[in-house]
Formats: sequence, structure tokens, C-alpha cells
Amino acid sequence: MKASMNKFLFFLLIIAIACSPKSDLTETYRPQVHYTPAKNWVNDPNGLVYLDGEYHLFYQYNPEGNVWGHMSWGHAVSTDLQNWEELQVALPEIINSDGTIEGIFSGSAVVDSLNTSGFFEPGFKNGLLAIYTANVTKGEEQIGQNQGIAYSSDKGHTWTYYDQNPVLDIGLKDFRDPNVFRYKGKWKMVVSVPLEFKVQIYESDNLKSWSLLSEFGKMGDTAKIWECPSLFPVPVENSTDQKWVMMVSSAGEDIRFTGMQYFVGDFDGKTFTADKQEGVKRIDYGKDFYAAIPFNNLPQSKKNPVIMGWINDWEYARDIPTVDFRGSFSFPRKLSLIKNGDDFQLNQVPVVSSSIPLKSEKLQISDLKKALEWDMADNTYHLNLEIDLAGSNGFQVALLKHEKNETVITYTVNDQILSLDRTQSGRVDFNEKFPSIEKMKVIPVAGKILLDIYLDQHIIELYANGGQKVLTDMVFPTSQKGKVIISFLETN
Ligand code: FRU
Repeated sequence: MKASMNKFLFFLLIIAIACSPKSDLTETYRPQVHYTPAKNWVNDPNGLVYLDGEYHLFYQYNPEGNVWGHMSWGHAVSTDLQNWEELQVALPEIINSDGTIEGIFSGSAVVDSLNTSGFFEPGFKNGLLAIYTANVTKGEEQIGQNQGIAYSSDKGHTWTYYDQNPVLDIGLKDFRDPNVFRYKGKWKMVVSVPLEFKVQIYESDNLKSWSLLSEFGKMGDTAKIWECPSLFPVPVENSTDQKWVMMVSSAGEDIRFTGMQYFVGDFDGKTFTADKQEGVKRIDYGKDFYAAIPFNNLPQSKKNPVIMGWINDWEYARDIPTVDFRGSFSFPRKLSLIKNGDDFQLNQVPVVSSSIPLKSEKLQISDLKKALEWDMADNTYHLNLEIDLAGSNGFQVALLKHEKNETVITYTVNDQILSLDRTQSGRVDFNEKFPSIEKMKVIPVAGKILLDIYLDQHIIELYANGGQKVLTDMVFPTSQKGKVIISFLETN
């Protein structure tokens, strides 16, 4: 009797554990102000589009697990670009009767308000169209990549694949990531030929039949294949001018890793011509910002493009030590161009939730007899620092300081380099390529450096001088809390 009672209690205990809310451990590293789906693998943002009061974020998603596979488009919506609601999978992979499978790779979405495609009821203005790459496989073999479309009349909740797909197939195995936009009464598409470091530009009246206009590429950084192109106008600050920007995902500042570059130039409706440039223009100097694309169809009042990127790096993406989810998305970033002589540089300002705790400080060496130490309540916060360099050799901001672990941001005056060192940031041994130090040049403004450091559990987005230079890196601290320690580097 007693034994069976014990068994019963044990059984109850097991049920209670199984039904209890997720323990903290499984949720470690879950960002609080960056979007992640409840579970599973994500990579590139897809089909960023605004429609009737809602921003849509579609994305590369594996509904079946937390490593890459079964590529489908996941879906989330937001009314403010800050709080996102996850919806059901929008575009699942397609299993054909001949045994081929079409993975739904990256692409874009447009609002076909004039019903140019003919998919919608006459006069219906809210038709959504997704233009994606079908990655066709049979068994283990990859057969080809072509561009397909799908349409939705209920704001992206349910979709129908076009029965005459593909709409663009040039017989290549690598031909992907169509990004479509409206320009002077026509649809334009930029799409990548990754192995040739090339972007093709196509045109269409109805989103179904496409003709080639021109090609761009084989310049800038060709250390890694080119993926996820986009082309859009960006306003120049303090002027009424705009220039066209071509963004491409390729290698990063450390060319062994993935990253993004951009070209500034002009687009005449047919051809994109890049201005002469010195070196490579980088969107982000960290290791973990890739595949960003802009929102389509933003309201007229918002003329600055807004982009979002995937936070991860293909070099170690599948090994990062998160549990339920793997991969996340950056803050939306509002873009402008800053003109300097003949050169134009992108400036990025994040759209950030006001709920993130803020600590703002103006610092100069004469006020700091010893290092500043702040105990932070948890690992999500925004530090806004204006640091006067006068009388110092630079400064150091150590984040997530706990026992031997820290992530260290250092600025050195003599070479004007801002670096982020994550070699002691906590869990770094899940992949030998992860521990690293990133560097970017930051020129002081009136003798000061302005830093906005956003930490969100495992994501650091670091904006220097109001967004002139940006660095995004993941870190995996071993403690849920840590100190911030700020010190100046003394002159000799
Ligand atoms: C970029 C990318 C795209 C492709 C997708 C597949 O990260 O390789 O070129 O469409 O991921 O998931």
C-alpha cells in the first residue's frame, strides 16, 4: 500500500515538472526587445512590408527544428516596429508529386494596390504578393533555384502559390533572393547570381513575366558569395537630395566571416551605376549582422528606408548555445546618407522600444578619479555615453563583468579605433571561430565619442556617433547579471 502511494506521489511529481512553465535555463539568452519566434531556427528577414497599419516581418524559418532545414517563411506583425506578434507559418516548403521539394528561400513582399497581377478582386487595394526563391531538391541533390510568387488577400495570414510558377528561371543552381520594388509605374527586381558576385536587375508590369534590364557587380568585396541584394533611394541629410544604395550580403570586415557591404550611386530605372569608392563600404563592423533588407511600402510620411537584419553568422550559426530558438533579428534601423566631400556614408538609427532601461552619462577624465562601476539589474539595457577624450589616451567600457568574464569595448585615441573584445565574454567554446575582437574606425566629433550600446541578453548593437558606425555582435554571458565598468586610459 505504502509503496504504491509513493509511486503515485512520484508520478504526480513527474507530471507537475512536465507541466510547469519553462525553467529559466531553457529561456537563457532570450532577447526581451528583439524579435525571436517562440521556437526553432531562423535566418534572413524576408518580405518586410508595411500594409494598412501593420509592419510584416517574414523570415527564413524551420518549422521542424532549431537547425537550418525545411525552409519556409515564418511570419510576425507589429504596429510599432517594436512589439511583434508571431503568426502561423506563411509559406511552407512545397512537396511535389514527382518527389522534388521546393524550399522557400529568401525574397520580398509588395502591396499590389493596383492589382497589376490580376490575382485580386477588381478595386481591392490590399493584395500582398510574395516573391521568393524556390530551392528545388530531389533527395540529397540540389537541382536548381528559380523565382516564384504567392499571393494573399487577407494581409498575409493565408497564401496561395501561383499555379504557373516559376516566374523566372535562368537554369542556374545558384540564382536567388529576389527583392522587388515599385519605380515609376513598373516593378523592378534585384536578384543575386551569388557565385558570380553579381546582381541582375529585371522589370515587370504584372509580377509574372520579367525581362532583364542590366547587371551590376564584380566590384567591392568579392571574398564571399553575394546574397540578398536590395536597391532603394536614401535621403541625404541636410539636403533635399537622395542617392540610390545597393546593399549586398557577402563577406564582413573580417573576410573569413559573413557580413554586408553597400554601394552608393544612381539608378536610372534600368541600370545602377556606383560612384567611385575607396575601399569597401560596410553596413556593420560586427560579426553578427547579415541579410538585411528594407521595408517596402512605408507610409509617405516616412521617407527614410528602414532595414532589419539577421543576427548571426553562417560561420557558427548552428552552434550558438540558445535552446528553444536559434537566431534573431536586429532592431529596425532608419537609414540616411551623410555627405562628406564627394563621398556618402550610411547612417543608421535604431527604432527602439522605450521599455529598455536607459543609463545616460556624460564623462570626462577630470570627473573620474577611479573607474565607474554600475551594478545592472539584468542583461537588457541601453547605455548612452558621451565621452570627452581630452587628457586621455581613450577609454574602456567593460560590460557583463562577472567573475572572470567581461565583454570589453575599447577606444584608443592614437589610431581612432573602437574595438569590441568578446574573447572572455562567457560561453565562447561552442565554436572555435566565435571568440573574436572586432574593430572599426570612429572619428571623434568635437573631441568626443558618442556611444549607444544596446545589450539584450545575448545581442549587442553598438552605435557610434549617432549611427555613423555600427557594430553588432552576439555574446553568451554565464551570469544573468553583470557590472558595467568604465575607465579612461591614462596618458603617459
Ligand atoms: C542567406 C541565404 C540566402 C538564401 C537563404 C536560405 O543567408 O543563404 O541566400 O535564400 O539564406 O535560407
